[in-house]
Amino acid sequence: MKTFYVTTPIYYANSLPHLGHLYTMIVADTIARHKRQQGIETFFLTGTDEHGINIERAAQRNGRTPRQQTDYVVSYFKKMTSEFSLDTEHGGYDIFMRTSEPFHYQGVSELWRQIAKAKTPKGNDAIYKGHYEGWFCAACAEYKTEDEYAKPVKPGDPPTCLIHETLLDRISEDSYFFRLADYGDALLELYKSRPGFVRPESRRNEVMSFVAGGLQDLSVSRLRTSVSWGVPVPDDPEHTMYVWFEALTNYITAIGYGNEERERVVGFEKFWPALHLVGKDILRFHAVYWPAFLLAAGVAQPRAIVAHGMWLDPVGKKMSKTLGNTVELDVLNRHFPIDAIRYFCLREMVFGQDGRFGYEALIDRTNSDLASGLGNLSSRTLTMIARYCGGRVPSGFISEDKLLLAKRAGLDTEETAISGFLEHARDQFLQHLEVFAFSKALETAWSVVARVDKMISDAKPWDLAKDENQKQSLNAVLYRAAETLRWLCVMLFPMMPQATTEIWEQLGLGSSAEATPGRIDPAKLKWGELSEDTTIGEVKPLFPRIDKAKTMKEINDQGQETGAGGSSDDAGSTSNAPSVSASVSAAMPEIVEQSASGGSGQHATEADAGAIGVTSFIDITDFTKVDLRVGEVLTAERIPKADKLLLLSVDIGEEKPRQILAGIAQFYSPEQLLGRKIAVVANLKPRKLRGHESQGMLLAASVGDEGKPVIATFTEDVPNGARLK
Ligand code: MSP
Repeated sequence: MKTFYVTTPIYYANSLPHLGHLYTMIVADTIARHKRQQGIETFFLTGTDEHGINIERAAQRNGRTPRQQTDYVVSYFKKMTSEFSLDTEHGGYDIFMRTSEPFHYQGVSELWRQIAKAKTPKGNDAIYKGHYEGWFCAACAEYKTEDEYAKPVKPGDPPTCLIHETLLDRISEDSYFFRLADYGDALLELYKSRPGFVRPESRRNEVMSFVAGGLQDLSVSRLRTSVSWGVPVPDDPEHTMYVWFEALTNYITAIGYGNEERERVVGFEKFWPALHLVGKDILRFHAVYWPAFLLAAGVAQPRAIVAHGMWLDPVGKKMSKTLGNTVELDVLNRHFPIDAIRYFCLREMVFGQDGRFGYEALIDRTNSDLASGLGNLSSRTLTMIARYCGGRVPSGFISEDKLLLAKRAGLDTEETAISGFLEHARDQFLQHLEVFAFSKALETAWSVVARVDKMISDAKPWDLAKDENQKQSLNAVLYRAAETLRWLCVMLFPMMPQATTEIWEQLGLGSSAEATPGRIDPAKLKWGELSEDTTIGEVKPLFPRIDKAKTMKEINDQGQETGAGGSSDDAGSTSNAPSVSASVSAAMPEIVEQSASGGSGQHATEADAGAIGVTSFIDITDFTKVDLRVGEVLTAERIPKADKLLLLSVDIGEEKPRQILAGIAQFYSPEQLLGRKIAVVANLKPRKLRGHESQGMLLAASVGDEGKPVIATFTEDVPNGARLK
């Protein structure tokens, strides 16, 4: 039996999942489901990258051990995979790989030993001991060369990572090196001999020119005294392995490399080589370092390394928590069907290029392509079969004597007009899928939806149903529509497993494992295999229309409310740390989002991963831009239907008290606040929440896993309006 192995990157266990992670999972899941449809035994890996200084520091910041930290983040990744039906239970991944597993330690040690024994193509030792002196970005887990960082403004300060905008660590210590410089020619040879090895083409060219520019040896270990949370170097426990060396190796240790038990359960022999799906941000590690390690160890190369682009916000900015433009997984989950999200991600992003993600665009696509498109085609076809054919799929046959009538009714009497169109579309669709052109594949499938919609509109079955002589024409239209739907279910299953399974059941095609669209190879579909007389199931709407104004309002309000009180979803920020290290964050959304240390959404980003210690300094003029005042709470009340908000009037020494909304209602009763002296941001642009204008913001610490707000206050008597500076 043929086998296939697909992997996502294993995600850093220092921050919580977000849309970017979800996207790679959706793409890998789509690929895996398509392979399984083809009858290929498929293994799909995802997981977490759990070692290194970044995780160690995140754990420290949160008052956790590294193990507690990684368990915490893993629970959120598993929550994501379960909620978005990407886990084993829902037919998704086969293993959630964790690099803290003992079998991984064993396998990666074996790879190290193999490389340590090896000679490079130039006859040198592949691994040697030396001294490393240079800059390191903990968030990238990468050594940085001069063109990869910004020089400090003040001489003597560390430079800043261009990606994370965080300060770099100076490293000067003994280290093992991998002699990467000796592998340049072998790598170029590999790219040339296997043009599909790095995809898409544009990325392959980038990688080739990087390698052609000359490679430097790579430091592959750290002193245990600097990084203790890592896999020990075999026979030299004073060193731990460089996290990328070890993390990349997960792809083979997961399936049995260096561990007999795993080999028996999964099978390196059986599944390797893998197709590695990665974001373009980590292509170099996968397309240069990893193949070089494998060359040195004498292990076969991956099947391919396929890089996708990054999701940007609707105006084209990189998503980051600092900018407050990330996409919340729980918002997605609450407001959109999973398959609408999958469809949008695959349709909207031209694979390989960056894409823009906006809730409005997601609503528009859901309404136009899914509610009015596929969903409507399905429900109108099935409703008409229920109404005009007693709930049974009619025959598509038109007898000689009725052909003329059918023609008059606007029907193409040649069934091949539609079946030929469909076959051609299916072939094109599969070609696109083969090269990961998901957007084009979906466009092609939707040309089928449009074609059948037109057939129905032209033939007007509702009129045909009034004329007994046109019974065969009516039946033919409905059969063709239903059979096309069956094809679409099979074709679209990898992208939209739930919706297609639902249509399949409504078509009366059963729900037994053998009969599901996930088990049928779309290439083998044959027109006419939908049996007449099939009793259709209950017709239910698939993609209800989304009320754009209402949903956008809910999303905006919700964003503001969750930002206000802090959520329990924070992973890597200091706001989780109790008492002394509790961050001061404002009890209003903007500041919680923007505070480098007080993030509280579900989607800590790579930027947070880099939020180590002080990330970037502001000078005093920046600080003086914030008008902080002492205020006194004069009145406080709850707002109906807004569980988290309190409406306060606060005297900050002005003529009239300010009206301020604070997301603290779950932690403070109105009575507790009356007469309290608080710290207020007085020059924050007013904004409306739940119909009330908020003219400022109060400050609160965000404490513990729940991000419980504790209002900043004064122990001495202070007049209202006094400035904090
Ligand atoms: N731990 C490393 C990978 C080691 S693999 C041996 C790592 N982790 S990560 O948590 O930073 O995940 C990076 C990956 O997440 C990207 O390569 C991509 O797959 C996905 N994405 C993260 N942000 C993304 C976007 N904004 N858009 C699309 N995908 C993104 O790097």
